Amino acid sequence: MSALEKALPGFAKTARAHATLATVQVYEVHPGSTPPGGLRRAARPDPQPGPHEVVIRVRATSLNYRDHMIANGQYFTPLTRPTIPLSDGAGEVTAVGAGVTRFQKGDRVAGTFFQVWFDGPPSRRHPALGVPLDGMLAESVVLHEQGVVRIPDHLSFEEAATLPCAGVTAWNALMFSGARVKPGDTVLCLGTGGVSMFGLQFAVAAGARVIVTSSSDEKLELAAGLGASNVINYKRTPEWEKEVARLTGGRGVEHILEIGGAGSLNRSFESLGFGGQVALIGFLAGQAATINPIPLMMKGGCLRGIGVGSTAMFEAMNQAIAVNQIKPIVGKVFCFEQAAEAYACLASGDFVGKVVITV
Ligand SMILES: NC(=O)c1ccc[n+]([C@@H]2O[C@H](COP(=O)([O-])OP(=O)(O)OC[C@H]3O[C@@H](n4cnc5c(N)ncnc54)[C@H](OP(=O)(O)O)[C@@H]3O)[C@@H](O)[C@H]2O)c1
Repeated sequence: MSALEKALPGFAKTARAHATLATVQVYEVHPGSTPPGGLRRAARPDPQPGPHEVVIRVRATSLNYRDHMIANGQYFTPLTRPTIPLSDGAGEVTAVGAGVTRFQKGDRVAGTFFQVWFDGPPSRRHPALGVPLDGMLAESVVLHEQGVVRIPDHLSFEEAATLPCAGVTAWNALMFSGARVKPGDTVLCLGTGGVSMFGLQFAVAAGARVIVTSSSDEKLELAAGLGASNVINYKRTPEWEKEVARLTGGRGVEHILEIGGAGSLNRSFESLGFGGQVALIGFLAGQAATINPIPLMMKGGCLRGIGVGSTAMFEAMNQAIAVNQIKPIVGKVFCFEQAAEAYACLASGDFVGKVVITV
């Protein structure tokens, strides 16, 4: 039995056992090559559902920084075989296997990042879509029913495709039971990428004040339009922690969505208020630096590592998105044939929110 089958009984086996003559169009990334050469069109057998599995006709997918790293051979988990990329996608259920209780044909759904971390705290490194498991950049996919959620009715497939990684990560960072954002808190979102823009929207919905940083005044204007109370251009104000201190009257913020990592952690620790939490999410400002943890310690602050989130978190987030009629920020949309252009757009940083590929 392969590691994949052990991790997710039935997943890989089903894909092989139900291979039919019919095929679906997919993209694959190949080990050892870089885009655009690394991203190749291919045909795969039309997926059929095994017990407790559903087939999803994918309508839209979205890209995360992780997908750029995977395609460039920079991700922590290396590719070992041609793999369908992208953890994020939404579509309709077209078939259900024996014993499926959560879904029926026609349901509008999205896959979850981890297959399957259903609920509770993380207990192991669950396999994720895009690597090591085949992902969503395909006309049809088959997933375990516990790794699928219904999407809010008011969202298009393009909007819903942005939720599984960036949305759930921001939700986990801000709404995890022990460290939930309260009305009146101040939240600092670094940059205007996918995770930070979801963080902005969730924090505003929760009644918090939000400070957003960006390298671009134009993007900051957009963030202000989405409800950011204060904005800081981190290129013009490289010591942005001082501006955060000024804006908060020296008190600091209660929550930080830390997408910079080692390269920005020291400034985040300086920006934090007493008893606050830094949610460690990304590493866009570099993966190595000399960190001074003393300010965090002196403030009784908390540094919490985030690994996307569970199916239960995804469902709780969707409920909040529906009640608050939140619309994810779709920065750019590409069609299936333009997948390589979508990857290039992600790498350029020339977008706010999410880059989407329709299928
Ligand atoms: N741990 C997890 O579970 C998890 C989940 C999702 C993502 N991540 C990680 O979190 C990070 C962000 O992901 P994403 O999907 O939101 O990325 P993204 O959509 O590609 O957003 C990138 C944005 O981050 C901002 N940025 C880049 N370098 C920065 C720096 N030095 N300081 C402040 N902001 C900077 C830029 O904003 P401006 O253009 O406005 O300057 C850029 O547009 C990545 O490292 C990703 O791998 C981790």
